[in-house]
Amino acid sequence: MNHPTDNTNVPAPAPTGDAPSRYFVTSFGCQMNVYDGERMGEMLNAQGMQAAATREDADLVILNTCHIREKAVARVYSDIGRLKREDGSKPMIAVAGCVAQAEGGEIARRAPSVDIVVGPQAYHRLPQLIEQARSGKAAVDTDMPAVTKFGALPARSKQPRPSAFLTVQEGCDKFCTYCVVPYTRGAEISRPFADLVEEARALVDGGVKEITLLGQNVNAWTGNDGKGRLQGLEGLIEVLADLSGLERIRYTTSHPNDMTDGLIAAHRDVPKLMPYLHLPVQSGSDRILKAMNRSHSAASYLAIIDKVRAARPDIALSGDFIVGFPGETEADFEATLDIVRNARYAQAYSFKYSSRPGTPAADMEDQISPEIMDERLQRLQDLLNAQQREFNQGSVGERTRVLLERQGRRADQLVGKSPWLQSVHVVDPNARIGDLIDVEILSAGPNSLEGTSLSMVTA
Ligand code: 5AD
Ligand code: SF4
Repeated sequence: MNHPTDNTNVPAPAPTGDAPSRYFVTSFGCQMNVYDGERMGEMLNAQGMQAAATREDADLVILNTCHIREKAVARVYSDIGRLKREDGSKPMIAVAGCVAQAEGGEIARRAPSVDIVVGPQAYHRLPQLIEQARSGKAAVDTDMPAVTKFGALPARSKQPRPSAFLTVQEGCDKFCTYCVVPYTRGAEISRPFADLVEEARALVDGGVKEITLLGQNVNAWTGNDGKGRLQGLEGLIEVLADLSGLERIRYTTSHPNDMTDGLIAAHRDVPKLMPYLHLPVQSGSDRILKAMNRSHSAASYLAIIDKVRAARPDIALSGDFIVGFPGETEADFEATLDIVRNARYAQAYSFKYSSRPGTPAADMEDQISPEIMDERLQRLQDLLNAQQREFNQGSVGERTRVLLERQGRRADQLVGKSPWLQSVHVVDPNARIGDLIDVEILSAGPNSLEGTSLSMVTA
């Protein structure tokens, strides 16, 4: 599914179109795309461009796409169509992200209004691709260079929000049979320890209070700590916890097989590591887990959860589920409901299986009908929603610390996150975005909590 670079090494003819000056990035899909979108913006700022307030104001629109399910891909093409303006003009259009990686030059052939196609490992070359596109020739770069983009990107600038993402690991070697990620994001790589500490420090110096470490398999991260020791993710977390000004650390997404005892212990030993774990299981049926090539069983997953709860009893557990994987029977699906009842989730994401071209599961027999998938998804979501309501209800009457992240819908209202990643609405005329305040939770809805401010903790 990886396409070689089409023409990045070809010298571009002299530019003919105007150089774009205002860009707009829309990121779809996972948080790694959000991170990539932010870094693209920072790089274009460093080139003298400015972020536009809306797509309509932009002369360069970047669609940072997701390939994980068919619907996400269809959305890209409908979005491209909508970028044409009433007077027939259009901005320069760049398709970035995983659809760019998977479909390469095919995108520009299918949607001729696309000027640039750039994969997730090549976006540090956007400035050159923009120059190339100005000459009127579609610029396609889906290279996966040995030297990663990170070294070529400018240092982090001041962040607009108190909570920031930091990609520490990319790619996946697990090859679950339904998943395109190993093809679109490539093999697992860990960014070097020292680079990550430096990027984290730059974020904190710019006012960031919470960092979420990102990776497709974030807990597979390893790195040399500069003292000759090979560290796992917990080693990085411990060093980041020493950064003064950084209050909270999170990480996502994890694979059960990389959930080491050291990382589990960090949930007990590192107060800045928040009590939240996103640990996808996908299915509760061992037969289906085997067909998915997950290389863990339902029992081994539950054993990990037990260990995590022993280390951090209040952990909020999150997960991902796929219903309707090829060959899934009613009994297999009921095993999924069972694992949900046993594991008890604070929140979760659940999806209908989507057949992805080029993956082994796409060729498996016994694909499940859309009607059965709909019905199973509904039953699974009813159970997960009930667990989420119960988890949120358990916070009522509790005192908790909230990191204020944004303005609420009401002018006097601020919205922040609890340690367990619940959204909390609160009114506090003395508080500002970026403050950590103590809140008593008064009521709980399915997706958020409402509380009253107790005190200002950090100015
Ligand atoms: N169909 C449906 N869901 C998928 N996911 C990954 N690939 C597919 C697919 N082909 C889900 C998994 C994964 C999450 C990011 O997306 O649950 O954990
Ligand atoms: Fe995809 Fe599996 Fe890798 Fe997650 S672990 S990115 S689901 S192949």
